[in-house]
Amino acid sequence: MKKKLLTGLQPSGQLHVGNYFGAIKPNVELFEDHQGLFMVADYHALTSLKDPTVLRKNIVENVKDYLAAGLNLDNAILFQSSSVQEHTELAWIFNCLVTVPFLMQGHAYKDKVARGLEPNVGLFTYPMLQAADILLYDVDVVPVGEDQRQHVEYAREVAKKFNHTFGNTFKEPQELINESVATVPGTDGEKMSKSYGNTIPLFATREEIQKAVMSIVTDSVGDVPENVYAIHKLYKSEDELITLYEEKKGKYKDLKDALVEDIDTYIAPMRERRASITDEEVKKILKAGGEKAREIAGKKMEEVRKKVGVSL
Ligand code: ADP
Ligand code: TRP
Repeated sequence: MKKKLLTGLQPSGQLHVGNYFGAIKPNVELFEDHQGLFMVADYHALTSLKDPTVLRKNIVENVKDYLAAGLNLDNAILFQSSSVQEHTELAWIFNCLVTVPFLMQGHAYKDKVARGLEPNVGLFTYPMLQAADILLYDVDVVPVGEDQRQHVEYAREVAKKFNHTFGNTFKEPQELINESVATVPGTDGEKMSKSYGNTIPLFATREEIQKAVMSIVTDSVGDVPENVYAIHKLYKSEDELITLYEEKKGKYKDLKDALVEDIDTYIAPMRERRASITDEEVKKILKAGGEKAREIAGKKMEEVRKKVGVSL
């Protein structure tokens, strides 16, 4: 039997080419032949984002991104975590089961605090909200990037603890980490990341693509501008690139022009599809997804409330 999936994305802003090849594309491919849920983790985003206009915009824009990238809605229930109140309810129960030292081990919490983010309580118990997202739906696997491995481990740990304390209730999920997905470098050769200002926006206009590509640092010695090549090979097979890079040896400007052309050709159909999706459609899809998710989560929470003893 095919495994059931749940994955999520924090609506934290404009997506870039690194997000696409590292997360969006592999997720869209998984949902081609697996059933499951795709969640917009809006309450997670609230741990760092306090601007309602921006949050609203990010939710709609990121859903459009995924739809344009081809997320198959026949197989994926697409919803906002905030529309299923059982997530925050179960997170509270989990908070009552785990200890402060256990959560203190969270890499994400430690990293964010080290980078100067406010250590709010939501950020601290973030892994328990994520555990609730996952465990409410009895999923087998959680496709995530390497940075999320520990969060799935936390979900397993708290599932075990609940099952041990109140009786068998939750399935222990496995992370699914695609090891073949390489880190996409940014225009400076470092990991492409919105925090480093070195991104190529995913749905950029041709002019924006041009601007980003021209800013790729090319101080490599030799005939091949390494940073250009590293991005180029995401769009064309290495066989095709060998001929091109041989022909244009040392001509960095020509190679960058070719990269602009290839990115534009690749993204144009998705950009067109994206432009045809209205905000109203997005809201309708999320509402329908929320209803489906609530049905599943509601049943699970009835069982949980009985098990912990609040349901009389
Ligand atoms: P950012 O680093 O821009 O803040 P996020 O942490 O929001 O990106 O990334 C969301 C997902 O996109 C991550 O879980 C990861 O799998 C993927 N991702 C982000 N940047 C890259 C990259 N440069 N290469 C490959 N995958 C990436
Ligand atoms: N924490 C994840 C991230 O930052 C987002 C997320 C929230 C998630 N809940 C989830 C991912 C459940 C997978 C499953 O990328």
